[in-house]
Amino acid sequence: MKALVLAGGSGTRLRPITHTSAKQLVPVANKPVLFYGLEAIAAAGIRDIGIVVGDTHAEIREAVGDGAAFGLRATYLRQDAPLGLAHAVLIARDYLGDDDFVMYLGDNFIVGGIADIVARFARERPAAQIMLTKVADPRQFGVAELDAEGRVIGLEEKPLEPKSDLALVGVYLFTPEVHEAVAGLTPSGRGELEITDAIGWLIASGRRVESTIISGYWKDTGNVEDMLEVNRLVLESVEPRVAGRVDAASQVIGRVVIEPGAVVERSRIVGPVIVGAGARIADSYVGPFTSVAAGCLIADSEIEYSIMMPRAAISGVARIGASLIGHDVEVTRAPGTPRSHRLVLGDHSKVQISS
Ligand code: DAU
Repeated sequence: MKALVLAGGSGTRLRPITHTSAKQLVPVANKPVLFYGLEAIAAAGIRDIGIVVGDTHAEIREAVGDGAAFGLRATYLRQDAPLGLAHAVLIARDYLGDDDFVMYLGDNFIVGGIADIVARFARERPAAQIMLTKVADPRQFGVAELDAEGRVIGLEEKPLEPKSDLALVGVYLFTPEVHEAVAGLTPSGRGELEITDAIGWLIASGRRVESTIISGYWKDTGNVEDMLEVNRLVLESVEPRVAGRVDAASQVIGRVVIEPGAVVERSRIVGPVIVGAGARIADSYVGPFTSVAAGCLIADSEIEYSIMMPRAAISGVARIGASLIGHDVEVTRAPGTPRSHRLVLGDHSKVQISS
């Protein structure tokens, strides 16, 4: 069994962060969201992974390398344009050969991993096995329609009038039968080869398509709110550890990780919080559910429920909340604004906020 990990695409909903960075590499608790997926794949006993990459291929390659750090053997498959999830399967045809495979969307985050579903698939080998979960707004997802016995009878991609509230989770298992389905597809209304259409074809041609409804936590981290939510969730279970230097005038309360080389001076940190290697926090408050990446600076500022990417700096700003701050961003004080700011800043931005 192989894995096909999708790490191409354009990430329009995470702009401007994704103007310059792959959306699958946005960090959750200081670790790229993609890495959680790779760990889940390795934990399910899979070794060979094909990673579909697009414009951001160099960045993904640099982060994942040959996969050995995850116990995986990675092969990169270049997709010229994000022409759809089924298009990714199409270009991976030779790599996948006649093996069964799990397709994992690189921006999905699934609590509890995929070992159980992979084991079930290996036992039962339906043509396709999908995971579904109840969502508040199914119009943003692929949506499944089930019959009275719970069998999938139809799938629609981002329907305006969803037939259920069961969204497709971004993990799909297939036998090689899917290649026949993919080969016959034509582009959808939005110009993509849809995996939902391929699965629909399998159902229509009488193949067995199994579904599992998961109630564990799942998020498509395609937008800022979801990223912050996933970050909150992961931080809630990190093991507290203070390896950096905290001076006597600082307070560190609750579930807090301070990586080696980080320095905290005259500050109050209320967990769950992670502070990356070499970060410096001085005369500041860092509140719950905040990830401060390596090399960040927080001086004379307050921040909570936010993600700071590597080497971002905030100084003289109170208070930042619910924000995603790209790497190398600088936020500094400017006189005359309200004391609450909500920011989504692209990489290398420089912002002056009056207060
Ligand atoms: O997250 C679950 C949803 O994922 C499902 O409910 C939908 O049925 C499915 O179509 C998909 O919808 P999204 O709109 O979220 O897909 P997105 O375009 O964000 O792509 C998902 C991942 O796959 C992302 O990491 C980028 C990558 N990708 C996407 C396309 C279209 C590729 O590598 N190549 C592509 O051509």
